[in-house]
Amino acid sequence: MDFFLDTAEVEVIKDLNETGLIDGITTNPSLVAKSGQNFFTVLENISKIIDGPISAEVTATDTAGMIEEGLKLSKISKNIVVKLPLTIDGLKACVALSKKKVATNVTLCFSASQALIAAKSGATYISPFIGRLDDIGENGLDFIQDIKSIYDNYKSLNTKILVASVRTLEHVAKSAIIGADTITLPPKVFMEMYEHELTKKGLDAFLKDWAETKQSIL
Ligand code: E4P
Repeated sequence: MDFFLDTAEVEVIKDLNETGLIDGITTNPSLVAKSGQNFFTVLENISKIIDGPISAEVTATDTAGMIEEGLKLSKISKNIVVKLPLTIDGLKACVALSKKKVATNVTLCFSASQALIAAKSGATYISPFIGRLDDIGENGLDFIQDIKSIYDNYKSLNTKILVASVRTLEHVAKSAIIGADTITLPPKVFMEMYEHELTKKGLDAFLKDWAETKQSIL
C-alpha cells in the first residue's frame, strides 16, 4: 500500500519524508489556503522533496478551464497529478487529460457509481472521502470495499483507489485489509501509526532491566 501525505505544509513533508516511507502527496485548495503559501511555490517546493505523485487540484469548474489549468499544473514537475472534481465537467476533463497521458486524481467521490464512472473516464486515481461519509452517518470503509469489488470485476479499469479523508487508524488498517492501493494520511494519523501503549511500556521495561545488567552492546 502506498502512503501519501495529505498536506501542503512543506516543512512537515520534509520532516516526515525522513522516515523513508512517503510515496506521494495530496493537496487541495483548503490545504493550500491553510498553508498560507503561494500554490505554485508550494508545488515546486514539494517536487524538490518528493519523487512520487503530487496531486494538485484545479479550481476552474468548466471542462475547458480545467484542461487548461491541468496542463499548466502538469508542467510544474513530471510527477504532478491533476486533481479534478467529480462533476460532469471534471470527468470530461479527465477523459481529455487521460488521452494526453496526463495523470489524474478524481476527487470528492462519495458513491460507488461515481467511482465507476471516474474509472471509465480514465482516472489514474479515485479519491473516495471516507471520513466525510462517516460524518453523515454512512460507513466509509464499506464504501471502499464496494469500489474495490467493482474495480476487481473489470480488469480493463486501471484506476487506483486512493483512500482520502482519513481520520483514524481503523481507517488505515481496514483500507489495507480491503486492499486499497493507496491511502492519503493527515500527518497526525501517519505519526499515530507508529504508536502503541504496550510498545512504549514494553520498551521502558526492557531498558530498565538491561541497565541492571551493566552491560553495553558497543
Ligand atoms: C484528499 O485528497 C483530500 O485532500 C482530503 O483527504 C480531504 O480530507 P478531509 O475530509 O479531512 O478534509
